[in-house]
Amino acid sequence: MSKRVVLAYSGGLDTSIAVRWLIENHGAEVICVAVDVGQSAESSGEDWEEIRQRAFAAGAVEATVIDARTEMAEEYCVPAIFANARYEGKYPLVSALSRPVIVKHLVAEARRHGADTVAHGCTGKGNDQVRFEVGTHSLAPDLDVIAPARVWGMTREDSIEYAAKWDIPIGQTKTKIYSIDENLWGRAIECGAIEDPWATAPDEPYTLTRVTTTESDEITISFDSGVPVAVDGRSLSVADIIDEVGRRAGATGYGRIDMVENRRVGIKSREVYECPGALALITAHADLEDLCLERDLHHEKARIEPRWAELVYDGMWFSPLKNSIDAFVAESQRHVTGDVRLRLDPPGVLRIEGRRSPFALYDHDLATYDASDTFRHEDAEGFVRLWGLGVATWAAKQGRDIPCGSA
Ligand code: ARG
Repeated sequence: MSKRVVLAYSGGLDTSIAVRWLIENHGAEVICVAVDVGQSAESSGEDWEEIRQRAFAAGAVEATVIDARTEMAEEYCVPAIFANARYEGKYPLVSALSRPVIVKHLVAEARRHGADTVAHGCTGKGNDQVRFEVGTHSLAPDLDVIAPARVWGMTREDSIEYAAKWDIPIGQTKTKIYSIDENLWGRAIECGAIEDPWATAPDEPYTLTRVTTTESDEITISFDSGVPVAVDGRSLSVADIIDEVGRRAGATGYGRIDMVENRRVGIKSREVYECPGALALITAHADLEDLCLERDLHHEKARIEPRWAELVYDGMWFSPLKNSIDAFVAESQRHVTGDVRLRLDPPGVLRIEGRRSPFALYDHDLATYDASDTFRHEDAEGFVRLWGLGVATWAAKQGRDIPCGSA
């Protein structure tokens, strides 16, 4: 019986020749699964049916396209918003968020087709191989994984030749300079001149953050228990909110990130990202939390957020620690309800102009310095004395020994 392999298929050069390579090297029956995680059609210039047909042309016995845009938004981007997730304080996990979505569908398709193996087109230097494989094994420890691009040892020219030899139709891949991964949450761009961390990143690969307006924009985003639910008072799906906020923020040039990051596999890498929707939504959400979260909860959550981002970056989406942190973070969102008003000024400046919530812990009468003040000033004196009692005692008994101690 021949081996059945479910391949994560993008329609690009590598995954297209991987189909033939799996047939030739493993005698496999290859089932291609392309997952739509909200990548824009214009970036590849292709539609999903063309991608399916290419899979068949490459030799696949079956090719399926799965629409996971809503799933990506609601089950992956929403928890990332809850966690204000930015790896190393910067990168909102674009690729890292989409891999578990894809993995989930690969495993489901493997089960449906009675396949014993899944395959992906990642190389051995990146994080995505980690996410595909660790993710697959955390859902289905029994499945084998094959990574053709990690073992075939072909250069890009070899790959193009291989495609030609097997009559695999490939797009305009010859002049490809950058490696780009895209989904609803944004775009990740690597290679070419970006590989020199001192060089200014080229402008050319950006598509979502080109300044196309001279006008400022103001966007009011409404959240309900941490979930974005409306833009300027219009209720929309989360996916459509990410789209609309991304489009409007991107038009003012907002949303670029240029960073040197630590990959899981030990390599430091200079990459650039454009994530106007993700960054605007996280910024707005975090601001609303400032208004609604009690201090200790807020501070503890801020300590846990980087860990969540790290786990997701490292391919641990389906893991017990990630699940447990999710439970904490989800509970914290109970009262994160309200509106945040963003202002965007080209080129690329975002400011929060206002926020409001029915659950705001901001109490004007406590905070104000005017006549409506209800704060009990007399309570402060004793509180401050006790707060400082320990250090005052220390200063009296021991403070002499340090240079700035009492005279
Ligand atoms: N460095 C980012 C990450 O690990 C982006 C990876 C992008 N992948 C790609 N095939 N271009 O999440």
